[in-house]
Amino acid sequence: MAKPEKPHYRCEACGAQSAKWSGQCVECGAWNRLVESVAQPVRQTRYTNYAGAPQVSGICSLADIQATATQRLATGLAELDRVLGGGLVPGSVILIGGNPGIGKSTLLLQTLAALAGHLSTLYVSGEESAQQISLRAQRLNLARERLHLLTETCIEHILEQAQKHQPQVLVMDSIQTFFTDTLQSAPGSVAQVRESAARLVQYAKHTNTSVFLVGHVTKEGALAGPRVLEHMVDTVLYFEGEAGSQLRLVRTIKNRFGAVNELGVFAMTGQGLREISNPSALFLSPHEESVPGSAVLVTREGTRPLLVEIQALVDQSASGNPRRIALGSDQHRLSMLLAVLHKHGGIGMFDQDVFLNIVGGVRVSEPAADLAVLLAALSSYRDIPLSRNLVIFGEVGLAGELRPVPNGQERLYEAARHGFSRAIIPKSNAPKKPVTGLRIDAISRITEATEAAGIA
Ligand code: TYD
Ligand code: MG
Repeated sequence: MAKPEKPHYRCEACGAQSAKWSGQCVECGAWNRLVESVAQPVRQTRYTNYAGAPQVSGICSLADIQATATQRLATGLAELDRVLGGGLVPGSVILIGGNPGIGKSTLLLQTLAALAGHLSTLYVSGEESAQQISLRAQRLNLARERLHLLTETCIEHILEQAQKHQPQVLVMDSIQTFFTDTLQSAPGSVAQVRESAARLVQYAKHTNTSVFLVGHVTKEGALAGPRVLEHMVDTVLYFEGEAGSQLRLVRTIKNRFGAVNELGVFAMTGQGLREISNPSALFLSPHEESVPGSAVLVTREGTRPLLVEIQALVDQSASGNPRRIALGSDQHRLSMLLAVLHKHGGIGMFDQDVFLNIVGGVRVSEPAADLAVLLAALSSYRDIPLSRNLVIFGEVGLAGELRPVPNGQERLYEAARHGFSRAIIPKSNAPKKPVTGLRIDAISRITEATEAAGIA
């Protein structure tokens, strides 16, 4: 084995290298940005491919490149395929982030078990013992004989084993536990995480292996260790879920092979993660009768329409500075909508606290939620419930006008499918053909919307 190199430091801000660590970078003056790295020159390794043969690239025309559509592998979990952009791309590197205990290891073990029927796979764990993983597989009723496991934390050893076993899908759980011999810092440090990930990315590209990297999330909600991981990988997925709830959402944050903001929905059960292919019903809270302050929105997550309930509570404020709190949506947008309601609808809530919540822990960031937020707030303010059969969507402009939103037709169909019988939507979203079972109010101003909803 090569003799370990001397420690070497590099400024994360300006890239300056130094032989010893100091608190401040002598080049750019940034504080605390020196991290251990592999000493340059990297040249010797850089221009060789994985087998060690020299590899020199030349300039060519894009037209000369034989681009065949990448064959995607179905993972056996349709919700996971959805967030990956339609299946697993060979040679891609996928980072799955999420809080400890949310279900990352469970999801990947189930995925590998589903894939193991027709592909060779390898699960590398630096966190749990072989017994623990085997027990979990047993509890999940997975075919254990086809699952291959390696408990090891040294990247060099792992890659050596991987080259022997040649898995087509490799799971690394978790990236914070691995280390490479070339660095002296502890596993989990920025330098180790980055260098280990870089090795794995290089391995994935050269051997056309799909690699899943599991990453823990810090208390602040960022992927522990470096954001730089997000730049290195092809796809970044985040695992979300509320404490005490079975619901688990997997969201695409970045994808070189598909759309972002795609959402996969799972439930954590006693038998592992179960897919929920029709999540709309899940996000609607079951009310016996209609309550003031509740509105149903048809939003879109990635490529699919989703019905969610928006709840607002408008209450007399005890302080001179009333509160505007939005959970699951944008606070500034809420303030803006209340200003529009005052200016163009003549209804002021200056002495009221306004709280907003999206039921089920989903985040809605698209402007199509505007009208539903506005009507939910007004419904609570007036203490008049909206009809239980009503769905709402539409963007609200600063002039009090309603603006169209993308995929209006599809949203209406989703509402009709779930038994809603009325919709208030922007005029430009009015469908050409009527939607069976749905009475549609297609309007152009917020004042018309409040009238149509019966809370003007
Ligand atoms: P895990 O996949 O170990 O989480 P992560 O790898 O993200 O840290 O999930 C562990 C949690 O999931 C644990 O709290 C128990 C729960 N769980 C179930 O509820 N049912 C199951 O079948 C399994 C395997 C786990
Ligand atoms: Mg785990």
